Amino acid sequence: MRAALLIVLGLAIGIIGTVFTMQALSQRNPVPQALMVTMGFHRQQLKLAVKGQHCEATANLDQLQHMQLIAADIPAVFPNAPKPFQDLAGHLHAALLTAAQSAPADCPALAAALKPVDQVCSECHQHYR
Ligand code: HEC
Repeated sequence: MRAALLIVLGLAIGIIGTVFTMQALSQRNPVPQALMVTMGFHRQQLKLAVKGQHCEATANLDQLQHMQLIAADIPAVFPNAPKPFQDLAGHLHAALLTAAQSAPADCPALAAALKPVDQVCSECHQHYR
């Protein structure tokens, strides 16, 4: 009898624990990851442009400006991140502004403009991803 009760109690505790864990997992804020996936999408578009040797000034600028806007959202989307992280977000925004202002009109120019941008991506990912 006692053993049966203990088994039922054990099961109940297990179920409650599982429910709490599932809730904690589903409550993970999806926005930070979504922002980075979108950032990655635009970076990928530019990569494909270079790869296909189809780098058009207007399209390049459009992608870079999208990335710049997304970078401006990083501080609000990662509000609890430490100061060095926020600084890197600022560096990324600045690098993208410079890249957009250089208005790359062909593939070599686009690749050169993206180099400093990619460096900031990697630097932050090395420390915080
Ligand atoms: C200030 C820090 C920071 C910068 C700068 C940054 N990232 Fe991220 N990135 C992160 C963090 C943190 C994660 C993990 C996010 C998560 O899973 O919640 C991440 C994850 C990613 C992911 C994986 C998303 C997934 O889970 O599928 C991609 C793709 C990505 N970043 C692209 C980029 C690109 C491209 C740049 C530069 C243009 C960039 N990031 C710049 C912090 C940064």
